[in-house]
Amino acid sequence: MEQDFLPINGTDYVEFYVGNAKQSALYYQYCFGYALVAYAGPETGLKGKASYVLQQDKIRFVLTSSLEPDSVISEHVKKHGDGVKVLALWVDDATKSYHETMTRGAESAIAPQTFKDEFGEVTVASIKTYGETIHTFVERKNYKGPFLPGYQAVKSTIKVAPIGLKYIDHCVGNVELGQMNKWVKFYEDVMGFKLLITFDDEDISTEYSALMSKVVSNGNGYIKFPINEPAKGKKKSQIEEYLDFYHSAGVQHIAIATDDIVSTVGELRKRGVEFLRVPNSYYEDVLERVGKINEDLEDLKTQNILIDRDEEGYLLQIFTKPVQDRPTLFFEIIERNGAKSFGKGNFKALFESIEREQALRGNL
Ligand code: FE2
Repeated sequence: MEQDFLPINGTDYVEFYVGNAKQSALYYQYCFGYALVAYAGPETGLKGKASYVLQQDKIRFVLTSSLEPDSVISEHVKKHGDGVKVLALWVDDATKSYHETMTRGAESAIAPQTFKDEFGEVTVASIKTYGETIHTFVERKNYKGPFLPGYQAVKSTIKVAPIGLKYIDHCVGNVELGQMNKWVKFYEDVMGFKLLITFDDEDISTEYSALMSKVVSNGNGYIKFPINEPAKGKKKSQIEEYLDFYHSAGVQHIAIATDDIVSTVGELRKRGVEFLRVPNSYYEDVLERVGKINEDLEDLKTQNILIDRDEEGYLLQIFTKPVQDRPTLFFEIIERNGAKSFGKGNFKALFESIEREQALRGNL
């Protein structure tokens, strides 16, 4: 087998540029049960911005706001609204990862830099991907601090109750019409990823709108990036609506794995998180389609959780409504019971649900 030129240990963190990181941090702590673990800002000697690091099991989110009107962060928030800036990848050698991808055609975002403090050192380097999103390679094998040099360990000011979120299952990008194959090629050529699955507009269309999607994955399968582009339908595709409001390609959703989706979603609902809804009729014949499952169908129906099956097993999933006022980023909660796929059997019910929301916003 050929050597993987870009070995990746997993997702290191996802960084969001937001309008008010202080308040967003509380939203993710209270509603999603992430614990505040680190902070960098003026109080820690960082000028012009503030970043809050949140963690639950293997998932790490960084929420960053600018304190100034003219900054890269402010411009990003002005154009895109709150959204994902960095999909960071945990590697053993960030400098090598950067050079391997640069020689294969990556565009540099930030050249390798090493930061040190009393806990050791971290090397980071970043390359550009779709829209204004970047991938940062993070090498932290010589570091014992709470996050990165310059960050101080802090604790949540509320009692945080984790809800069983375990790790990032996949991160989905929306790209402009005709750009999907270009970005699939980027992940194949520049990062050594493999094409896992293709969905065409036959798979993903309703009466009104359509999209196409391809999923790429790295060598060990820890990183999965589906890439969507809009397809022609009678009305506006949900991907077009995203692009209209994000004003460029960007991250559409982050899927987070749980071992107990019924309890996770129950907690999220209690704490005010809103989900897309499929009609109750979905549950009338779903078991004929997916066969036997371990969960009680009534529990899944109560929480409006979707079910799908592939050759290897089944999966349970649900999608939040957008988590900011623009119809852009949302989250998926997923529990895999053997299935390695993405819920193709639910696409139609799901997209009809999204279209009902689009129509309410006047964007269908
Ligand atoms: Fe997904």
